Amino acid sequence: MRKWTSEIGEEDVGKEVLLFGWVHEVRDLGGLVFLILRDREGFIQITLPKKKVPPETFEIAKKIHRESVIKVIGVVKKEPKAPGGYEVIPKEIEVLNEAAVPLPLEVTEKVPAELDTRLDHRFMDLRKPKVHAIFRIRHQVMQSVRQFLSEEGFIEVHTPKIVSTATEGGTELFPISYFEKEAFLNQSPQLYKQILMGAGFERVFEIGPIFRAEEHNTTRHLNEAISIDIEMSFTDHEGVMNVLERLIRRVYEDVAENCEKFLEWLNVKLEIPEIPFERITYDEALEIAKRKGEEIPWGEDLSTPALKAIGEEIEGHYFIVDWPTESKPFYAMPYEDKPEICKSFDLMKGALELASGAQRIHKYDLLVERIKRCGLSPESFEFYLEAFRYGMPPHAGWGLGAERLLMSMLGLKNIREVVLFPRDRNRLVP
Ligand code: AMO
Repeated sequence: MRKWTSEIGEEDVGKEVLLFGWVHEVRDLGGLVFLILRDREGFIQITLPKKKVPPETFEIAKKIHRESVIKVIGVVKKEPKAPGGYEVIPKEIEVLNEAAVPLPLEVTEKVPAELDTRLDHRFMDLRKPKVHAIFRIRHQVMQSVRQFLSEEGFIEVHTPKIVSTATEGGTELFPISYFEKEAFLNQSPQLYKQILMGAGFERVFEIGPIFRAEEHNTTRHLNEAISIDIEMSFTDHEGVMNVLERLIRRVYEDVAENCEKFLEWLNVKLEIPEIPFERITYDEALEIAKRKGEEIPWGEDLSTPALKAIGEEIEGHYFIVDWPTESKPFYAMPYEDKPEICKSFDLMKGALELASGAQRIHKYDLLVERIKRCGLSPESFEFYLEAFRYGMPPHAGWGLGAERLLMSMLGLKNIREVVLFPRDRNRLVP
């Protein structure tokens, strides 16, 4: 039975174990060779005193290249000086696949590499424990999201990624050729999750890719991202903000509880956010920005410097609510008594937008009017609009960027760090 390095403990002392992994380091002291074996869970020292191991095993250890894949059968010993407190004296080492030299990248992190070099050789970069840890936490985040939303009565769905219309404004679309027709990669599951409210699903969620042809390379934009989306019937924007803040807290709690080792590898101390999150209005946000020298005309989106100014003033997570209707997409519900602002919100942490959402327009006539007002043609939305004519319940929802959530949680500076194989303006491979 194969063991992971992390599973080796007191009960194994004096016993034989079977290990698989990569040769992280080799230290050859002549008559004594140390290998550090690495698997996805950690490290263990393989100690080879010349006189105590079979000669052929000793020879293999002396010749082995770093990052080769090996199988080790050996006996566990307590060794306070070894990392983790145990070592293995091998009876047998088999090289399953030898690594070529030199390596394209240092896995031991003794020599720091540029992010571009790291991403070019991502398979090797991902072997670094610190990098691997991010994806183990990402896995936990996704698990928690699925579990929490399922417990709350949401049904997981999958909507098309090849679509015929934009949803979040006409730009930023990737056109693709779809037989004789023009088609696009979806920017958001927005229209489909709303149609499903018309289909009587009441609560849905989707975790899936969104595609945005972002012209600029920034540290917080990707061209392919994973969006966590919900849509919920018989509620308003407040109702779904409540789901969102409870979800965020739950994700932090689960990661803190289940990813202790990986947080340690990353040197991250998680603070569980308190709920409810602070809410400030768009008007208040403008005020804060203005006080700090960033004046924004009413109606415009908040600029990056403005968000920085606001983020410095408000600690932790917060919502910006009550946005100008003209600054948000056509589907956001205007306030009945003040139609120049709408029931939409952004969830922020510092200067980073993690999510945005709104109560939606569920009345057909108003929706058509808003589509026209936004310079779009209702004809191209016919498949969507039909669902609003025959019993569409009031509903609300949001989209939360999985990568933004992770990067803010782990305090990472570049969004590419949390994606296995990121897609940006310049990067299509690997
Ligand atoms: P929005 O366009 O604000 O809203 O997107 C929702 C969230 O998705 C993430 N996100 C991105 N992450 C990385 N790179 C990108 N290029 C990128 N674009 C978006 C962000 C953002 O907050 N349909 C609405 C949601 C809704 O109302 O339900 C929408 O798409 O974290």
